[in-house]
Amino acid sequence: MARASSHYVCQSCGAASSKWSGKCEACGEWNSITEEALPTGPPKGLHAASGKGAASHAKARRVQFEGLDEETRKAPRFLTGIAEFDRVCGGGLVDGSALLIGGDPGIGKSTLLLQTVCRLSAAGISTAYISGEEAIDQIRLRADRLGVVKAPIALATATSVRDIVSALETDKPRLTVIDSIQTMYVDTLDSAPGTVAQVRASAQELIRVAKTNGITLLLVGHVTKDGAIAGPRVLEHMVDTVLYFEGDRGHQFRILRTVKNRFGATDEIGIFEMTDKGLSEVANPSALFLADRRGDVSGAAVFAGIEGTRPVLVEIQALVAPCPPGTPRRAVIGWDSARLAMVLAVLEARCGIQIGMHDIYLNVAGGLRISEPAADLAVAAALLSSLSGEAVPSDTIFFGEVGLSGEIRSVSQTDQRLKEAAKLGFVRAVLPESRTKKQGDHGLKLTAINHLDQLLPLFPAKKKKA
Ligand code: TYD
Ligand code: MG
Repeated sequence: MARASSHYVCQSCGAASSKWSGKCEACGEWNSITEEALPTGPPKGLHAASGKGAASHAKARRVQFEGLDEETRKAPRFLTGIAEFDRVCGGGLVDGSALLIGGDPGIGKSTLLLQTVCRLSAAGISTAYISGEEAIDQIRLRADRLGVVKAPIALATATSVRDIVSALETDKPRLTVIDSIQTMYVDTLDSAPGTVAQVRASAQELIRVAKTNGITLLLVGHVTKDGAIAGPRVLEHMVDTVLYFEGDRGHQFRILRTVKNRFGATDEIGIFEMTDKGLSEVANPSALFLADRRGDVSGAAVFAGIEGTRPVLVEIQALVAPCPPGTPRRAVIGWDSARLAMVLAVLEARCGIQIGMHDIYLNVAGGLRISEPAADLAVAAALLSSLSGEAVPSDTIFFGEVGLSGEIRSVSQTDQRLKEAAKLGFVRAVLPESRTKKQGDHGLKLTAINHLDQLLPLFPAKKKKA
């Protein structure tokens, strides 16, 4: 019987099967399975060399073991000069490392990388920018817009990995940008560019060449509608650092978030603003997120959060409206809707607030996405404020996690949160009781609470209504 020459691979998770189906069994994605040719010949394992090509059998070199206490060389780094970008990379780019930058189309990946490359080359570092998506003229036009035409960077449009590798091996630029990995192909594979097999093989080859030549490689990856880099959960483990560009195109803010970093902390963010001259850095994000705030309206509370290593103050907005008969609406932007449901349930069950039968809208102003549970208290304050019509005092910040029995649990880095609030002119903080005694107050008036119902006196009108 003839052996099958192809198999079916999910373009979302990389799972392979022998027959086509509409839905991937492994990840549940629909319409993601395409046919790909099977690799010909035996897999290139250790034994591949023992058959026909035994002559080329490489002699094994014994692996050297070392102890933990031996001297380490610090990873050599170079700064891009774009502080927000250096921050998400863990303090500059590491020589010979591979980075993956993901994001929606049009979010600004090419813009940021062109700016980075130009900065570096102006500082005398050799760089190459290889685009598989745009023509050289388009890149020139963009550079013109960014005001960086004079930078001595090496531009190329190419999609064949073989050609690119040969250029990299001869020129050895210190930094290379590949925009994007989905347009690259390896000519020994039959599948089309952008398929899992091609993306994986191209990335593997490029990373191998970059590592052996000490080239820092920046790979651009497109993101599918549900937020995964297309094809490439398979890519995430191959690279040293994964960065995601977030933010919607309606806002001018763009957030670059570290998802994985072998050379630094994760969950770090860099904040940029899209201007007519490209992306500019935002050094003081709290001031930016609070810029459009009107202090005297109900339904808004300021949360003192921590993003990565940095405190960020953001406004949480809630709208609680009477709902017509039927199921109440819940819409959440920038926060977890399951946590909203929990805070609502706790308000209802532990504090006796009748809030369940209302339409509820929750929004984190400025387009930031918050994942910290510490925002619970600020969310509760915004909800209570909207329900009662009583504005939250505009000089007050909130943070604390709400437990299921209504208790307020302590959160980390109280000190940093308070310091940032004091810096931005806030005078009062509502926070969990369990931590305050150990910390300084940074000149703020602290209201420490240990149960959610201690928040109610802040909203006296609520009592009348209920
Ligand atoms: P781009 O970097 O091409 O996105 P990606 O590579 O992630 O697909 O982003 C282009 C968008 O940014 C486009 O919608 C126009 C906008 N933009 C500006 O607003 N100002 C600028 O100076 C530039 C270069 C782009
Ligand atoms: Mg692009």
